[in-house]
Amino acid sequence: MLILPWMKANAAEENGSYDDRYCTTCHGADGRGNYGVQAPRLAGMEPWYLQRQLENFRAGLRGVHPSDIEGIAMRPMATKLTDESIADIIEWVGSWDYVSTENPYRR
Ligand code: HEC
Repeated sequence: MLILPWMKANAAEENGSYDDRYCTTCHGADGRGNYGVQAPRLAGMEPWYLQRQLENFRAGLRGVHPSDIEGIAMRPMATKLTDESIADIIEWVGSWDYVSTENPYRR
């Protein structure tokens, strides 16, 4: 597994501010998504869906097919998560409001 310096092995080990979590590195500030790395929007995501997908990545049900380049990028982010840190993440991500990214450049 590739370990980048900004990755934390376990979100539950973090204390204090949520701001330094690594999810936003790919999924964008406030989980708005990042087209550049094909990371989808997390803001506004239903808690049950978010939980199930993190569990699926962790269990190797998702992000394992050799041609699933994006899934392979995401899977290592979930493999070290505990049930506790998943619950914690759901609470954190749940605080982000859905903001339409349709034409984000229009002011
Ligand atoms: C290295 C970049 C990267 C990081 C860091 C990252 N992700 Fe992802 N994530 C992705 C990519 C790329 C996808 C798209 C995978 C796919 O299409 O199957 C994805 C997909 C997801 C999905 C599935 C979305 C859907 O619509 O089904 C969820 C949920 C998710 N990420 C949550 C997280 C959380 C929570 C964190 C932090 C613990 C995180 N990601 C960190 C890149 C990343």
